[in-house]
Amino acid sequence: MDQEISEKKKDLLKRYAHRFGEMRVRTMSHVGLDIFETERRGCVSKDIDGREILDALALQGVFNLGRRHPVLVDVLKKALERIDMGNNFLMSEEKLLLADKLAATTPGNVNCVFFSSTGSEAVDLAIKLARGFTGKTGIISADECYHGITGFALSTNSNPDYTEPFGPLMPGFSHVPFGDIEALRKEISEDTAAVIFEPMIAEAGLLIPPEDYFIQVRKLCDQYETLLIIDEVVTGLGRTGKFWAIEHSAGVIPDIMISAKGLTGGLYPMAATMFTEDVASFFLTYPYSHYSSTSGSDLGCVVSSALIDIINTPDFLSDVIKKGKRLADGYEALLEKHPELLESYGQIGLHTVLRLADPAGGFRMNRYLAEEGVFALLATNNTAAIRIQPPLIVSESQIDQIIDALDLALEKMKPKSRRRQI
Ligand SMILES: Cc1ncc(COP(=O)(O)O)c(C=O)c1O
Repeated sequence: MDQEISEKKKDLLKRYAHRFGEMRVRTMSHVGLDIFETERRGCVSKDIDGREILDALALQGVFNLGRRHPVLVDVLKKALERIDMGNNFLMSEEKLLLADKLAATTPGNVNCVFFSSTGSEAVDLAIKLARGFTGKTGIISADECYHGITGFALSTNSNPDYTEPFGPLMPGFSHVPFGDIEALRKEISEDTAAVIFEPMIAEAGLLIPPEDYFIQVRKLCDQYETLLIIDEVVTGLGRTGKFWAIEHSAGVIPDIMISAKGLTGGLYPMAATMFTEDVASFFLTYPYSHYSSTSGSDLGCVVSSALIDIINTPDFLSDVIKKGKRLADGYEALLEKHPELLESYGQIGLHTVLRLADPAGGFRMNRYLAEEGVFALLATNNTAAIRIQPPLIVSESQIDQIIDALDLALEKMKPKSRRRQI
């Protein structure tokens, strides 16, 4: 579905490349996503040339409730008549209300919180807290992980594409293969301050660990007086059909949890580092050791409180499971139809990936899907996989549209001689 690019858009692309970098524009053009967003509503946004694109990624969870959810927009507009970001030296009811709401959702006594603006910052605080609280330095993360771009968060990353130009990274960080409890047993020691994992890793093609993995991880952490940090930046807020994905591992209570991205439905940047009352005792000794002028905006808190009210209901969460099942049924049919191109899929709620036989298939798939008007993204730590994580409010007909687009895209991936007429 190639479309003529207007002179206006050509000019904007050129100016954009000048200001933000030629390679960014070229990369997005290469995968068919050189889109200048204008209107955006629900699961659809419009390019400046009028073309509509269906969002099958939700910016990895930022737009869990779609674009400009009417309830959230209304709440934000009303709040703007009354308040602003807030003065971070002072206190506000908005912050307290959101803290109470989050504490009611988290497992065990993960009852305390620090708000910031991005997931990376929230991860940095989690690691600072782990070191400050335990007095130890070792941090273990997964080989395949991504936890962000700031100092401590970046140091958890073992992918040289992200880290190489910036070395040396922080000392004390090591990595283990995700889901392999024996590897963690070998790596963890009395010097380990924290183990940081996502409940499942989409960036690597959706690695879902063995069922009792986190129970075993928790036991090892307890044995070595090591904190367990669970990063729910992508997996949280209903994405997997539970409010937090760690709830799939019943009984596991992390010491620290992190939320960001979708916390304010894409209307205001906001992140939360949530921790137990025990860990919070660190701030008795160092109350102002971590601070940012714009963290914990009252406007963001108001929006986030409204978002939690929408998502954290049994009906909403069971709907996510139902829609995930519809998507998985579509994947089953695609596997049967394209066995030579598709290897498998991973799915838990609306957290899904398709794994292709071609090791670089994610790039081609990205482009072909964009040609069919669907925006998905390859998994950057596994270029054979394409992530399909639509907004949680995606409709059944939009799910069918995604499956149809995948079918056509797979058809295009076939060698020319074997394609059917489309
Ligand atoms: C699991 C995970 N943690 C942390 C982050 C960092 O969040 P942010 O991009 O808001 O800094 C990301 C970003 O994609 C992420 O996927």
